Amino acid sequence: MQQDVNTGFLEAIPLPAVLVDQSERLIAANMASQGLLGKNLVGRHFATILRQPGVIAAIESCLEDRKPRNARHLSNDGAQDTTYDVTLGYVPSIGAVEAGAVLVTFTDVSEREQAGQMRRDFVANVSHELRTPLTALVGFIETLQGPAREDSNARDRFLSIMSDEAARMNRLVGDLLTLNRVESRERQRPKERLDLALHLQSVLKTMQPLAENNSVTLNLGLPEGVESPDAYEIAGDPDQLLQVFINLVENAIKYGGDHVEVTLEFLERDRSLRGPAVQVTVRDNGQGIDPIHLPRLTERFYRADSHRSRELGGTGLGLAIVKHIISRHRGRLRINSERAVGSTFTVLLPR
Ligand SMILES: Nc1ncnc2c1ncn2[C@@H]1O[C@H](COP(=O)(O)OP(=O)(O)O)[C@@H](O)[C@H]1O
Ligand SMILES: [Mg+2]
Repeated sequence: MQQDVNTGFLEAIPLPAVLVDQSERLIAANMASQGLLGKNLVGRHFATILRQPGVIAAIESCLEDRKPRNARHLSNDGAQDTTYDVTLGYVPSIGAVEAGAVLVTFTDVSEREQAGQMRRDFVANVSHELRTPLTALVGFIETLQGPAREDSNARDRFLSIMSDEAARMNRLVGDLLTLNRVESRERQRPKERLDLALHLQSVLKTMQPLAENNSVTLNLGLPEGVESPDAYEIAGDPDQLLQVFINLVENAIKYGGDHVEVTLEFLERDRSLRGPAVQVTVRDNGQGIDPIHLPRLTERFYRADSHRSRELGGTGLGLAIVKHIISRHRGRLRINSERAVGSTFTVLLPR
């Protein structure tokens, strides 16, 4: 071991860092490396500490040709995987170690990796969702140009299906743009004020035709004894909150039973919001949602029942949009559901 080598500079590197000399042993290791590689590292052969083949090969090559290199190091602390980008560079001579040593540093790139993976998954999902209606459209166009050219019955039927498929694509693109807009504004708090009672009344009016088509009764419960005209006012983005409640009521009509109850309540103090809040609940008496789906329900394209959602023209983005809008308003969304009893979506907004 090289006692006379000054390797204190390693402590100035804000990453796990170790030095491996030509004897293939660690001659220094900074404090940050202990969390990743353990204690008492100095003096040991590097391959007993860094066992991953890619890292071993990179260190061996670097000791030989002294050229910089990169490798991947995966660690698992039992709870989660962490990916490190390992950077190797040759330090020509360090004090008495005239032959020099390899400086090995570890950068945690897990977040970047995860973001990359999410982006890839998202692109794959969007492509898949767009391709399905597009394939149908292309197929019907070909049929209309060929075999069904002179068949007016078939033509009408196919055109009607094509129109539905085009509308589905349109909804998907619309939802994607909405999601994008909501996400890009997520850090700006809404400043406008709106009357939540009026707002909910207009949501119910808008959804009435859909409810009637589905033989669903809609009911709005407002708190009693509220006198001042601005009592229902909160700070919020009117268009976005309209979207939240339309999405929730629409889901309740589509996936619920035959009755939907929307209620507005004032809370003197809500624990999670640490202050006065308004609470809007959208409750249905449908089949409910299996608990295994609940944690992931607000993810983009996640559906509890894909078949039903697609059949009803859903994009799978509604609750993702809802979640982002509520988070922009510093509110909370809670989902409770009981099989064969129904589901309750609760929106809490600061007052
Ligand atoms: N009230 C509800 N009852 C039962 N399932 C629901 C309810 N609301 C939402 N879901 C489930 O959550 C999924 C995601 O909802 P959403 O993001 O709005 O997508 P979409 O309605 O386009 O399918 C739906 O596909 C459905 O399976
Ligand atoms: Mg929906």
